[in-house]
Amino acid sequence: MTIALLYGGRSTEHEVSLSSAAGVLKALVALPDTEVELIGLDRDGVWYHQTFDRQLDRARSDRALEIETGDERRVVVLPAAGLALRGGRALSVDCVLPILHGSYGEDGTLQGLLEMAGLPYVGSGVVGSAVGMDKMRAKQLWQDQGLPVVPYVHVQSWEIGDESARDHLDGVIHDRLGYPVFVKPNAAGSSVGITRVESSEGLFPALMRAFAIDRVALVEQALPVREIETAVLGNDDPIAFPPGEVIPSHQFYDYDAKYEDPEGARLEIPAAISPAVADDVRDLAVAAFRAIDAAGFARVDCFVVERPDGPAELYLNEINTIPGFTPISMYPKMVEAGGISYQDLLKRLIELGIERYRDRENRDFRAR
Ligand SMILES: Nc1ncnc2c1ncn2[C@@H]1O[C@H](COP(=O)(O)OP(=O)(O)O)[C@@H](O)[C@H]1O
Ligand SMILES: [Mg+2]
Repeated sequence: MTIALLYGGRSTEHEVSLSSAAGVLKALVALPDTEVELIGLDRDGVWYHQTFDRQLDRARSDRALEIETGDERRVVVLPAAGLALRGGRALSVDCVLPILHGSYGEDGTLQGLLEMAGLPYVGSGVVGSAVGMDKMRAKQLWQDQGLPVVPYVHVQSWEIGDESARDHLDGVIHDRLGYPVFVKPNAAGSSVGITRVESSEGLFPALMRAFAIDRVALVEQALPVREIETAVLGNDDPIAFPPGEVIPSHQFYDYDAKYEDPEGARLEIPAAISPAVADDVRDLAVAAFRAIDAAGFARVDCFVVERPDGPAELYLNEINTIPGFTPISMYPKMVEAGGISYQDLLKRLIELGIERYRDRENRDFRAR
C-alpha cells in the first residue's frame, strides 16, 4: 500500500503542517507493508515530489520536514487518473493523507480536487471540510439540530460602510450579546485575526482586522470559558475519546499562546471535569461531527462555562477536520490516552479513508 503524505500548503498554518508531517512520516514508515510518497506544497500551493530519504532523516532527527522545489519535482493532479510527475511518470497511490491545515487544505477545495482525481483520502469530504472551516455555517447546522452554540451575530464587510450602519450594529450587539465580545474572521484558524473587544470603541477596528482575512466576521458573546476538546474518530459510527482541556496562560488562546510562547498553554488530558460533564461533551462532539457530515477524524472544541448557582453550560465552539497532528498535539494525545497509539491511529485513518471511498464507488451516482 502506498500513502501520499501531503504537507505544507498556502495557509497560515504552513509551519505547523511541516512539524505535523514529520511525526506522521516517522510513524508511517514503521507500519508494515506501507510505502510513502512525500508531496510538499509550497506557500504558493505548488506541489513538489520530495526526496524520501532526506525528509525521513529530518523527521528522525526531530526536525520539521522541508519543501524541496524545482521543476523536475512538480506533481500534477489528473482527472480520474490520480497523481503524476510533470515529466510523465505516474505516482501510484492507494490513499492520500493530507496533513494540511486551514485554507486550501482543510476547507473542501483539496478534497474536491482529490475526488476529481479519483483518489481515496483521509478525513472529511467536500461538504464536511467546507462546513468545518466555515464557523457560521457550522453553527447554523448545529442550531438546526438543537445543539448549543455561543450567542453571536454575523457581519459582512459591505454592511458597515457608513457611520449609521456601524452605530446600528453596535446597538444590535448591545441588545443581543452585550460587551465584552469576541470578533473573529468566519473562516480562519490559529486565532489569526481574532480580537477580544471590551466596549463599543474597539468594535470597528476589530472588525477591520477580521475583514482583512474574510469578508464575513462573527461577533460572539465573550464567556468565562474552559476550553474542552474532544477527539472524534470514525465514519458512520464515530466514537469520541475522553476530552482534554487547553488552559491558556494568556487572556485567551491567541496565536502566541498556540505557537510562539512555549508557556502559552497547558494541555490537560483527561480534562479535570466531572464524569457527567465529560459524557455530555463526548455526546455533543459526536453529534457535532455528524451534523456537518464529517468523516475519519475531527477535533471538536467546546466551551464549558461553570456557574456557581447551577449546572455547567456547554457550547460548541468549532470543529477542526484536520486537527494538529504532531505526536504532542491534542488530537493524537487524546486518542492515545484512550488506548490507541499514534501509529495505530494513522493506520485506522487510512482504513477509514479507503472505506469511505469504496462506499462512494459502490453507490451508483449515475442512476436515474
Ligand atoms: N465566545 C468566546 N468566549 C470566550 N473565549 C473565546 C470565544 N471565542 C473564542 N475565544 C477564544 O479565542 C480562541 C480562538 O477562537 P476560535 O473560535 O477557536 O478560533 P480559531 O479557529 O482561530 O482557533 C479560543 O480558543 C478561545 O480562547
Ligand atoms: Mg480554535
